[in-house]
Amino acid sequence: MSSTSLTAAPSLPGVVGSVLDLIGETPIVRLRRLVPADGAQVVVKLEGRNPGGSAKDRAALALIRDAESTGALVPGAPIVESTSGNTGIGLALVGRVTGHPVVIVHGGTMSPEKLALLRLHGAELIEADWTAGPDDPGNPRAVADRIARDRRGWRSHQYDNPANPGAHYRSTGPEIWRQTGGAVTHLVASIGTGGTISGTGRFLREVSGDRVRVVGANPVGSTYGGGPVGTIRVEGVGTNWPSSHWPENFDRAVPHEIRTMSDEVAFRTVARLASEEALLVGPSSGLAVGVALELATELDRAHVIVVVAPDSATNYLGELAG
Ligand SMILES: Cc1ncc(COP(=O)(O)O)c(C=O)c1O
Repeated sequence: MSSTSLTAAPSLPGVVGSVLDLIGETPIVRLRRLVPADGAQVVVKLEGRNPGGSAKDRAALALIRDAESTGALVPGAPIVESTSGNTGIGLALVGRVTGHPVVIVHGGTMSPEKLALLRLHGAELIEADWTAGPDDPGNPRAVADRIARDRRGWRSHQYDNPANPGAHYRSTGPEIWRQTGGAVTHLVASIGTGGTISGTGRFLREVSGDRVRVVGANPVGSTYGGGPVGTIRVEGVGTNWPSSHWPENFDRAVPHEIRTMSDEVAFRTVARLASEEALLVGPSSGLAVGVALELATELDRAHVIVVVAPDSATNYLGELAG
């Protein structure tokens, strides 16, 4: 992805114009030890290598650029969003470079590391109640709406703004296709707003003539998998909303299936990725890799499963290493 330079300086070979130019083009690494002996190949796209530390940098840049181009976000106006962290960090990072203050409404479930990162990025933090239902004024999304109205800010609406899946359709999907030389047969991605799975999955299905199979990874306690509402321990994924209120950005026609994994498997997979593969990823990556490893046992070596690892362990060091 590219950004416009803020000042007209002579270009230097190998030097990018701003951190915005470091968003995307993340590496994919093959799992060597965790995969079943005769099962499918499993490769992991490390979105934690984005400058803000997650896949959400892609969405944040696209959301802000789109709003600037339509005039919805005027110069200097605040950006307001309700998020479990990574979108906030992405918006704060892009907001810093593009000159917008950022207000983040969170549900009180964010890791201390993400809260600290948001503060370092200069975001204003407001806590709301994530258990409040969609029609409750205390719901984080309702609180964010109110603040945006009061401060004449722009609400990025990551759950419903098509620029979010659009970013993954234009960048994550084509990268995976190119990086695997078109050999990808399965995509596994966790579902939060649905931006990643909908955009990436749609691109891969289209470009492959509908050969790529798309699998959603859902935590226990989330209704995306059709199960009952419960406590979701894995940050950034799942929903407690009834299916009638699912985010517009989650295109249900894209995944062929959604598999639900326990927290225990998700966190155990994070620990095994660290100790056996030297990969430090976050819990939602453990969730998705857990689903991919289950899937790999059902397929042979001719299959290539690409798993999106949305962020790195850096965001959860206390919990994972404590
Ligand atoms: C840690 C983490 N994993 C996964 C996701 C899900 O990504 P998406 O919102 O694109 O579905 C998010 C979204 O915020 C996240 O923060």
